[in-house]
Amino acid sequence: MKNIDPSSTKAWKALKEASKANIHIKKLFQDDAKRFEKYQVRFKDILLDYSKNRIDDPIRQSLLDLAEQTELKTAIEAMFTGKLINGTENRAVLHTALRNRSDAPVYVDGKNVMPEINKVLERMRVFSEKVSKGVWKGYTGKPIESLVNIGIGGSDLGPVMVTEALKPYQHPHIKTYFVSNVDGSHITEALKEVNPETTLFFIASKTFTTQETMTNAHTARDWFLENAHDKEEVAKHFVALSTNGNAVREFGIDLNNMFEFWDWVGGRYSLWSAIGLTIACSVGFDNFRKLLEGAHAMDTHFRQEPFEQNIPVLLALIGIWNTNFLGAASEAILPYDQYMHRFPAYFQQGNMESNGKCINREGKQVDYSTGPVIWGEPGTNGQHAFYQLIHQGTQLVPCDFIAPAHTHNPLGDHHLKLMSNFFAQTEALMNGKSLEEVQQEMEKEGKAPEIIDKIAPHRVFEGNRPTNSILVRKINPATLGALIAMYEHKIFVQGAIWNIYSFDQWGVELGKVLAKSILPELASPETVSGHDASTNGLINAFKNFRKE
Ligand code: F6P
Repeated sequence: MKNIDPSSTKAWKALKEASKANIHIKKLFQDDAKRFEKYQVRFKDILLDYSKNRIDDPIRQSLLDLAEQTELKTAIEAMFTGKLINGTENRAVLHTALRNRSDAPVYVDGKNVMPEINKVLERMRVFSEKVSKGVWKGYTGKPIESLVNIGIGGSDLGPVMVTEALKPYQHPHIKTYFVSNVDGSHITEALKEVNPETTLFFIASKTFTTQETMTNAHTARDWFLENAHDKEEVAKHFVALSTNGNAVREFGIDLNNMFEFWDWVGGRYSLWSAIGLTIACSVGFDNFRKLLEGAHAMDTHFRQEPFEQNIPVLLALIGIWNTNFLGAASEAILPYDQYMHRFPAYFQQGNMESNGKCINREGKQVDYSTGPVIWGEPGTNGQHAFYQLIHQGTQLVPCDFIAPAHTHNPLGDHHLKLMSNFFAQTEALMNGKSLEEVQQEMEKEGKAPEIIDKIAPHRVFEGNRPTNSILVRKINPATLGALIAMYEHKIFVQGAIWNIYSFDQWGVELGKVLAKSILPELASPETVSGHDASTNGLINAFKNFRKE
């Protein structure tokens, strides 16, 4: 990947100039009857409508020029072909190989990684089918009824998000639980729900050293042994999903029960790897395979389509326009599908751990914004919580609205009501409501002139708030796989153009190291004095509270 400062390109300068104009989306529609057709991409069962953005033809062209001038095509090829694009860790980035259903070879350091990937996938198929068919038995000979995934970050959020999004596909007799937080309440509550005789624990950790996961894993094993008594029985109830065979063995998990992946799989991109075993056991291996196929289809689209028809590239460029030229500091992801309720949280990590960087690939401080804050909740709940700020607040919050045409639960008119809100929100965000419109409305309501004067300004909606609408036929394993891959590639494109390293996460290290040094201080009776005054004061107050 070339290190090109995007702000030095001609396209960036053109965009800067273009951002000075006062573009109103409503006006763009008035000026161009074909805008909806021109500003959309259809890919299989996904329709991206990006017409409700403050982007006209010249701006779109400049954004596409930016992609060319920062040599995005070369960057994409570098990723797919296993180049060491994670420069600070000297690693390839190959989550795309994990879902490479074409089986075309993919080389890392001259070695084709596809045979190893397919071997692990086959082991996952065999294992998950044994579990789902009741062939895998617990220590008293009973089939498995509960899966407990113990992991954090990418080793938790991906499996949680997918198993929730695919709940209609879950095994009818197997329940899935997720334990991530080191707060003992999390595992306590999960263990209350399950029976040691019928529970399978998945210790999901790329490194197998993460404090939270290892603490929970030890607690789970102790709890299990209190019931099972015999250490040999651990093999029937604990599997490891990891890259670290030595640590897995040291923990006491039989390597036959270890499902391997590799250092070129980033934690937040790992649901496609052995980390997906919990998903496969929960929704069935066939559905896990369809998830991979959906993602692979999006990979192919991303790698082959020209940028003007390329969904991840367009989403990334729109995001850059909003972030770098319109000053948006956050983006909301709003799925109108209750099963997708963890999708925003999943991409909160995906985006913010990837592109929350201020140092460019040459080790210099950037002088432009990089990754925005990502947040969101499912519609319509969000409407009754935070949409007020999106409609009338002082910050610009570009939103992605995602919804399926078909629901898994066609119950009365629920889905049509849900979708009427979906369409209404993007329309309202774009059109707003002028002071004149509000005044006329209030006159019709018979309000007195002094009331109209007082209240009308509060009822004005400025509008012109950008949104993307992502409409899918149905949330099934294949469309979900494609949607996840779509956002992953959006993140990649933005990182490539911002000239940052998207695949490391040094920013989470400092806190981890400090927590390790503070832990023994909390246990000791001594007064703490080695930190700044605030941290000393807080630690000592905490210790005093515990004495009372
Ligand atoms: O928070 C940092 C991080 O390394 C994430 O990137 C990762 O998903 C998470 O911790 C868990 O790591 P592991 O899978 O090694 O336990």
